[in-house]
Parts: sequence; C-alpha cells; structure tokens
Amino acid sequence: MSTGSGSGRRRLPLSLRRRPVPWEHQRPTWREARPAVIAGALKRAQARPSGNWYVVGASRDAGGDRPLARTVAGQDVVLWRDAAGRPVAGPGICPHLGAPLRDSPVRCGTLVCHWHGLALDGGSFAGWEPFPAYDDGVLLWVRLDAVGGEAPLEAPVVPRRPDPARALTAVYTGVGVCEPEDVVANRLDPWHGAWFHPYSFVDLTVAGAPDGPDGGAEGFAEDGFTVDVSFKVAGRLVVPVRAVFTAPEPRTVVMRITEGEGAGSVVESHATPLGPDDRGRPRTAVVEAVVAASGRPGFALARGAAPLLRPLVRAAAGRLWRDDLAYAERRWSLRSTGRFPG
Ligand code: FES
Ligand SMILES: [Fe+2]
Repeated sequence: MSTGSGSGRRRLPLSLRRRPVPWEHQRPTWREARPAVIAGALKRAQARPSGNWYVVGASRDAGGDRPLARTVAGQDVVLWRDAAGRPVAGPGICPHLGAPLRDSPVRCGTLVCHWHGLALDGGSFAGWEPFPAYDDGVLLWVRLDAVGGEAPLEAPVVPRRPDPARALTAVYTGVGVCEPEDVVANRLDPWHGAWFHPYSFVDLTVAGAPDGPDGGAEGFAEDGFTVDVSFKVAGRLVVPVRAVFTAPEPRTVVMRITEGEGAGSVVESHATPLGPDDRGRPRTAVVEAVVAASGRPGFALARGAAPLLRPLVRAAAGRLWRDDLAYAERRWSLRSTGRFPG
C-alpha cells in the first residue's frame, strides 16, 4: 500500500486519500456536463449498426433443463442449448396451440412443449422459425430482424475483452421503466459519478470528452469519454484508475480501464428493450457484464487480485444500478412528458 499521489498514483494499485474532500465541497461538474455533448454522443451511438442483435442474458443462464425466456421489444423469445451446446433461439409461442415455451423443459438439447409434446431442436418446424443466437462466452445475444429493422449482421458487436483465463466475470441484470437510450445516456454522462455515487467513486475528473460533431476529442483518438476516478475500497483507501467510456453500438456502453489496477478490465452495460408494462410504459433491461482483468496470472487471480478488483465488480452492481436506473427512469419520464431540459 502507498500514500502515493500525483504522477505516480496510477502505478500504485491503492492509495490513501490524504485530505478527503467532503461531498458538498467537491468541484461541481454540471458546467462541463453539457447536455449537447451527451446528446451528441448518444446520437452517434444510435447511428452505429447493431445488426439487430439484442443481449438476452449471461452465457451461463442457458444450458439447464429450462430455456432462458425473455420478452424483447414485446416478442417472447426462448433460448436454450442444442445437443452440441450451441445456443438456439426462437419465438416463445408453441406453433401448435400456443403454449408458453418458457415453461417447457429442455431434454437432450430439444425443447419439448409441455402441452402436447411437440419437439423443437432449434431448426424450423411447423411454422416455428428460429432466431439467430450467439454466445460470446460471457453473454447471449439473439438477432431479431423484425424488431431492429437494420441490415442484419452475421454476429453482434462484441466489445474487446481481457483474456478470460485472467479475468473475473460477473453479470448483473436490472429492469427500469425507460427506453434503451435513457440507459445509454446515463452511461454517457460520466460527470455524475462522484456526485451521484459518492459511496463508490471519488475524485472524478473527465480528462477528455468528445468536442466535435464527429466525436473527436483533443488528444484522444476514440469517440469516448476519458475519466480519471478512484473506486472506494474502504474508508480513505481507494483504487485510482483511468477509464474510457465508449458506445460501440446503439445499446451498449463500455467502460474500459486503461490505466491503474485492473487495466484492460471492462464493464459493459447493455440495454435491451423488453416491451410495455401494464400501464403502457416502456421497460428496459440493463444487462451489465464485468470482465475484470488482472496482471496476476492463473489461479492466483482470485486470491491475489480479487480484493482490488472487487470494488470494480461491486461498482457495477446493486446500489449503483438502482441509482442509475432511477436516473434513466427520470430521463424517460421527463422526455415522455415534454419536460426534459436537455
Ligand atoms: S401447444 Fe405445444 S404441442 Fe400443443
Ligand atoms: Fe452512474
């Protein structure tokens, strides 16, 4: 441990904040967090192709004796693994008399309808047409061309990730009353970090933000936000990192740690539209994958690096997402009633 600061701070995994700044005395960020900058980044994200792929869950959610069932943009989708372990997906409505396939069992890679025994192996059958499915090793995706309306892509836009052999992976899912763009807009506002989540983040500075219509920023090649921030470990103990936020496709925001402990780690926030609730309001799932890397190889990872990576993993979960979903829901509620100030 060290009490390092200044130029050396990023070489040291942990530091002790010498003079913690009270929450209300930190520097206000609202002047820099210009609504037009966030809106511009969101617009460019929305213009990127997704190929109609939607994240439906974690890779480990499929493979049991029940299908993974999701409603995506109002469409019932079931996904399971075939006999070879490959993901297969399709509509969640049995083509015979409409049984909900989410309640049907998977037997030896075949989904067997529990009403009259119709068996689906993942191929077209009796009017049931499969959806392309993709397992990227962490997350499962389904391609819904009728929903997306874009030119289909062979595979989803999967963010670059650290080597799984040197990584800890965790996936969290939350649901909010909002649209995917509200979730993406929340993640494209890095300035709220230390103000809105003081329990997780301190000393946040946005070192680079897009400042042109093409998303370029002075000194930074990518269309993204470069953020210097410290994750709180305990008390005054923090892990300072530099992170870059980018949106590789319309419903994904990636935070990649580029300097500091866990460099190379990513937190991917994927927004999937579910469909309306019983009051007709849109619901969106946030599926967040943390792929936390350490320079420490192999089996030592869990024991040696977990204490330092845990704040990163925890940062993605629980309280943080409750607050961020509240932000996204607030944004939707104001937008949908013409009251959004941005
Ligand atoms: S409803 Fe599925 S087999 Fe009859
Ligand atoms: Fe947040």
